[in-house]
Amino acid sequence: MKSLLKALKRCAVAGAAALAVLSLQPVSAAQAAPAPVVGGTRAAQGEFPFMVRLSMGCGGALYTQQIVLTAAHCVGRTGPNTSITATAGVVDLQSSSRITVRSTYVYRAPGYNGDGKDWALIKLAQPVNLPTLKIATTTQYNNGTFTVAGWGANREGGSQQRYLLKANVPFVSDAQCRSYSGYGGLIPSEEICAGYTAGGVDTCQGDSGGPMFRRDASNQWIQVGIVSWGIGCARANAPGVYAEVSTFAAQIASAAAGL
Ligand code: ARG
Repeated sequence: MKSLLKALKRCAVAGAAALAVLSLQPVSAAQAAPAPVVGGTRAAQGEFPFMVRLSMGCGGALYTQQIVLTAAHCVGRTGPNTSITATAGVVDLQSSSRITVRSTYVYRAPGYNGDGKDWALIKLAQPVNLPTLKIATTTQYNNGTFTVAGWGANREGGSQQRYLLKANVPFVSDAQCRSYSGYGGLIPSEEICAGYTAGGVDTCQGDSGGPMFRRDASNQWIQVGIVSWGIGCARANAPGVYAEVSTFAAQIASAAAGL
């Protein structure tokens, strides 16, 4: 079971690289009415201004104007890295208004080995003048209904999207999440689950690294998760699993301060 899970999670990395190629191709008319994510709808321009698309085929969010928070499984080892391009400021990845910036450095969560700890920071060559997304520093927002967004597949095995898609998914407790087939290895302190028992709405391949977020007490968006893995996409009894941001908030802050 553990090896199956590892294979599924690893395949997300390889899949993301392959999908990045697809995402560079023109989107045909047949793809013009996508549901995003899975079971989602199109985000409006400016609705989630902190959303970033990364060239390896992942999502991310602006933690600062010069640092993107993404998933560890989307990046390689910690160190100088100028190979990643971040696209920001648009819902349409082909928009002439898009902002693109190269990476200068990758910081992958210390101790990341494919299980849990699925977070990483990417330093950008220049700051982008866009709003950032604050992260949860306590567990108080690890409940309720979350929003997810991304340019990933709009169905299991589907293609990457040109337009940013969004959806809402409900919190799933660690106990319930662990009970599902394939989820026994869940690390409750490091992972948080979300989705409907019946499936139908979920993140999917290519959404990895993107944020799961909700409104805080001041009605501001706050990030509680990072898209990490799932068994398939939007299946019944198979929630999405997200890195639990509140657990890593202090580490993220101190790592960012050192970049
Ligand atoms: N690991 C996938 C990626 O690289 C994300 C999978 C999310 N799956 C899910 N069922 N929520 O994009």
